[in-house]
Amino acid sequence: MTSATTPVPIMGDGLPPVLREMLGPDIEILEWDESPQSPSLARAVGVLTFGHPRVDGPLMDRMPNLKVISNHGVGVDHIDVAAARERKIPVGNTPGCLDASTADMTMALLLATARNVVVGDQFARSAEFTHYDPAQLIGYEVSGSTLGIVGLGRIGRQVARRARAFDMRVLYHNRNRDTEAERDLGVEYAAFDDLLKQSDFVALNCPLTPETTNLIGTRELGLMKPTGILLNMARGAVVDHDALFAALNSRRIAGAGLDVTNPEPLPRNHPLLSLTNIVITPHLGSASNRTRHRMMQMTVENLQAGLKSSPLPWAV
Ligand code: DGY
Repeated sequence: MTSATTPVPIMGDGLPPVLREMLGPDIEILEWDESPQSPSLARAVGVLTFGHPRVDGPLMDRMPNLKVISNHGVGVDHIDVAAARERKIPVGNTPGCLDASTADMTMALLLATARNVVVGDQFARSAEFTHYDPAQLIGYEVSGSTLGIVGLGRIGRQVARRARAFDMRVLYHNRNRDTEAERDLGVEYAAFDDLLKQSDFVALNCPLTPETTNLIGTRELGLMKPTGILLNMARGAVVDHDALFAALNSRRIAGAGLDVTNPEPLPRNHPLLSLTNIVITPHLGSASNRTRHRMMQMTVENLQAGLKSSPLPWAV
């Protein structure tokens, strides 16, 4: 199909064909180019962030025609939202549609770390697996254990529901108590340190903000049980990686499941990658077919609204 109008130029990073198709012929996708002579920056009327490129005030200032920034995903820590607001550029994101799939992935990491799914898979493929040995690869019981959720927001609540179905006791920590969630989900509020001390699994489901940067460091890992497992589904920078390596390497805590790291990916020689008591996935929280499709639809709708100078359906 050809368009009768001149396509509106937007800058996008690594957009897959399906998203390009959804954007349609009325949009011209410019190469993500931040070089000094970038023709994209001069022309872009919109920005679509797909793979977390950093968009800050100075970059926005190089885009004189910019009307909207539409982010594929809910977390916008890679975008300077305050700078966009100062420049009256609306920022859109995709809240809500990815809560269930991110919670599913939290449970996947929880089960994988607790029950040796990854090392078990490697062992089962190896020549060392010669016979069934009931003494091998004994994991931690999930049912009946305690999960502490740091950040009982939309995703955290979905994690709580799933954990309750696994007969887990669920603690949560938020800035404020959520008595409605306590009633509806059967979760219990805990002060941050108490949550760390009492939980068998600590799941980080909070956004990355100045307050949550390096929230988990040596002191916090030191409060966890020696059998405790840390799960990070938030952002890598919520956890101090040096402290985490020390805690895992010394078996101060039993294990960790990370869907996110800082940086992402970790350098191939990063010490965390040498450990066997950690499972790392490449930022798969919302990577399921239906969720990704909906995220793309919302991203496109936000972009289209911004290009028309209309209010964004999902504005940050
Ligand atoms: C999110 O939605 O924030 C996910 O991390 C994907 O960007």
